[in-house]
Amino acid sequence: MFFKTLYWLALAWSTSLTSAFETVEDAASIARTLMTSTGVGTMATLYPNDHPYLAGEPFALQEYYSSCHTNGSLTLIFMPISRHSQNILHSRNHSASITVWSSPPAASQARVSLMGKVHVFPDGTGGENSIRECYIKSHPDAKRWLPDNEHGPHTALWARFDPHTIYFVGGFGDEHYIGSIPLPLYQETNPTISVTGRLNVQL
Ligand SMILES: *[C@@H]1O[C@H](CO)[C@@H](O)[C@H](O)[C@H]1NC(C)=O
Ligand SMILES: *[C@@H]1O[C@H](CO)[C@@H](O)[C@H](O)[C@H]1NC(C)=O
Repeated sequence: MFFKTLYWLALAWSTSLTSAFETVEDAASIARTLMTSTGVGTMATLYPNDHPYLAGEPFALQEYYSSCHTNGSLTLIFMPISRHSQNILHSRNHSASITVWSSPPAASQARVSLMGKVHVFPDGTGGENSIRECYIKSHPDAKRWLPDNEHGPHTALWARFDPHTIYFVGGFGDEHYIGSIPLPLYQETNPTISVTGRLNVQL
C-alpha cells in the first residue's frame, strides 16, 4: 500500500512538472511558426457521396500553400481539375484539412493539423499584389501556373483556406502539448521563428 501510494505520488509529481513544460500558448506559437515556415503540407479531403466506388473515402496528397494572412488563413492555388478541388467543391462546406510537421519528421517533433473551409475566389479575383508576392516568395516554381498566367497548363483560381479547428501534437505527451488550440488564440498568435531551432525554414 505504502509503495503504491508512493508510486502514485511520484507519478503525479512528475506529471505536474512536465505538463507545465508546453502550454497551449506555446503550442499556438509553435503551430503558427510551423505553418508559416513550411509552405508544403499534406491536404486531406473526402470523396463525394455520389462517387461510384470511393464515396466518403479519405484522400490525402501533398499541397502547396502560403501563410499570407496575419490570422493564419492560408493562400492556395485552386485548380478545378484536381482531385482535391473536386472533393472540396462537392463537400457541403468546402471542407479540407492541411497538416505540416517539423523537419526532420520524428515522433518527438511537433506537427499540426488544420481543419477548415476553402473559399474559392471567382475567376480574376483574390490575387492582390500582396497575396501574389507572398505566394511566389514561398513557391517561385508556381509562377508557371498562377491564376493570371494565361499560358498556364490548367484553369487556376486563387483560394483561401480558413481553419476552424486546430489539432496540435507537440511531440511525446509527457513533455509536449497534445490537443486542440482554440481558434482565437491561434489567430492572434504571431509566428516566431525562434520558438524551435529545428524548423525547415523556406520563406
Ligand atoms: C457546415 O456549415 C454550416 C454553416 O456554416 C454549419 O452549420 C455546419 O455545422 C457545417 N457542417 C459541417 C459538417 O461542418
Ligand atoms: C483572415 O483574414 C482574412 C483577411 O486577411 C479574411 O478574409 C479571413 O476571413 C480571415 N479568416 C478567418 C477565419 O477569420
